[in-house]
Amino acid sequence: MSPPLLEVRDLTIEFMTDEGRITAVDHVSFALERGQTLGIVGESGSGKSVATRAVIRLLTDNALVGERSAINLTRRDGRQVDILGLASGSSELRQIRGGEVSMIFQEPMASFSPLRTIGTHMVEALQLHERVSKAEATRRSIELLERVGIADAAGRFRQYSFELSGGMRQRAMIAMALVTRPSILIADEPTTALDVTIQAQILQLLRELQEEMGMAMIFISHDLGVIAQIARNVAVMYLGRVVEEGPTRDVIFEPRHPYTRGLIQAIPRLDAGQRRLTPIGGDIPSPLARPSGCPFHTRCGERLEGRCEARVPDPREVAPSHVVSCHLHD
Ligand SMILES: Nc1ncnc2c1ncn2[C@@H]1O[C@H](COP(=O)(O)OP(=O)(O)OP(=O)(O)O)[C@@H](O)[C@H]1O
Ligand SMILES: [Mg+2]
Repeated sequence: MSPPLLEVRDLTIEFMTDEGRITAVDHVSFALERGQTLGIVGESGSGKSVATRAVIRLLTDNALVGERSAINLTRRDGRQVDILGLASGSSELRQIRGGEVSMIFQEPMASFSPLRTIGTHMVEALQLHERVSKAEATRRSIELLERVGIADAAGRFRQYSFELSGGMRQRAMIAMALVTRPSILIADEPTTALDVTIQAQILQLLRELQEEMGMAMIFISHDLGVIAQIARNVAVMYLGRVVEEGPTRDVIFEPRHPYTRGLIQAIPRLDAGQRRLTPIGGDIPSPLARPSGCPFHTRCGERLEGRCEARVPDPREVAPSHVVSCHLHD
């Protein structure tokens, strides 16, 4: 069996801060197969962004990565490389970042320089990764802007990101991320800032582009309802740990972890014209005061006294590929 396209193994990331050491990602493992979508879901602060930014080595200087952690990528030429083992300024890392693994962010403004046009960004990205003439890079960029649904693409090509509406800017960012035809797209809450109609359009667009380009995707959201529309598999994160993972259908229809059940109840839905939403009770603990044992035990209604606060539960396969880490399933 060939190795997965991307394999994150035992990823641990801590941050040194003035207040103390924060564990943002705690022994996380997951795999991504070619052409597939993995959803990552969890409340704010669960480590979704930090874990995926590590894949393109976009971590701040105060980050410490675990010694046993590995992020193995199968490159286009079939070679395997541990991204965490690459030197930070190396040409191999530059080739991978933006060329084979691209990322789009919740706040598109952050990805564009206000001093450069949309077109300049795209042409530069393309020329960094491929030997193409400026004319060819321009042609391909405009074609992609058209493909993502931007009217008057040639005109937009010459504009700045701040001249575009939120939805158009998000489309432009998708075009920019895809211009190099990456094998993996990481989409970090790409629709959160958008209204529901545009959100649905962007999800549809990502699904189409993914199919056309045969790329794999990691799609991050705090909303399991959005994940259900786009990802075949899902990993549920809480305070830096994956607490449940598996085929999205199984996780949603037969959630095993009390935290996952809480997330499902928190999915916004329209019931008889009324918006019903039950948030998970209790506060998310401060990252400086991580609970012992199962990180969720302080908010869990099904907590087993003497057990859940004492020991971190081991992952257990409860159905094919459906894995849960919870003492209720020991
Ligand atoms: N550069 C940093 N320095 C210190 N702590 C950080 C840094 N970046 C992230 N953290 C902390 O790491 C933890 C995980 O953060 P992360 O941004 O990955 O959460 P998230 O799941 O993406 O949340 P959200 O849904 O709000 O985007 C949080 O406690 C956060 O405060
Ligand atoms: Mg985030």
